[in-house]
Amino acid sequence: MYDPNHAGIDEARLALLVDRFYDKVSADPMLGPVFNPIVEDWGRHKLLMTSFWSTVVLRSGKYRGNPLAKHQPLGLQAAHFERWLMLWRETTREVLPDPESAALVIGYAERIGYGMRVGLGLSGHLPGSHRVGSERG
Ligand code: HEM
Repeated sequence: MYDPNHAGIDEARLALLVDRFYDKVSADPMLGPVFNPIVEDWGRHKLLMTSFWSTVVLRSGKYRGNPLAKHQPLGLQAAHFERWLMLWRETTREVLPDPESAALVIGYAERIGYGMRVGLGLSGHLPGSHRVGSERG
């Protein structure tokens, strides 16, 4: 089975990915206005998100929480998720040059994002569901 620990994905890489991703998010014309009024401490948010991704990708079990409940009051639209995923794909490919590693991490975000959109009652499709996890994302 594919093992992220053998593909250059560790806690430090995920922390770098999260750091670069949320720098883009906060500067983004569509996503910045959603995040910036809510996230008071970006350092803390990035630590929380690193714990989330290390739980998803590395099964570290560091994150405990209810992401869906956190997103419910934000009034998100499908377009927010599309933009979020676009920036996630772009940043993941920059930080994880190994295509298989990038595809793994992108695939997780696509599936979690899809579940979240369904949970929020937004119409959504799983992008390229026949090839989720491929590096083309
Ligand atoms: C695959 C897509 C996404 C994933 C995996 C994800 C994941 C998460 C997680 C794990 C948290 C922390 C929840 C907690 O405090 O325990 C969070 C918080 C947050 N997310 Fe997302 N998210 C996604 C998409 C989005 C999108 C599209 C937006 C807005 C455009 C968004 C806006 C936020 C905001 C503003 C917070 C902070 C909420 C707060 O502190 O009250 N997220 N997200």
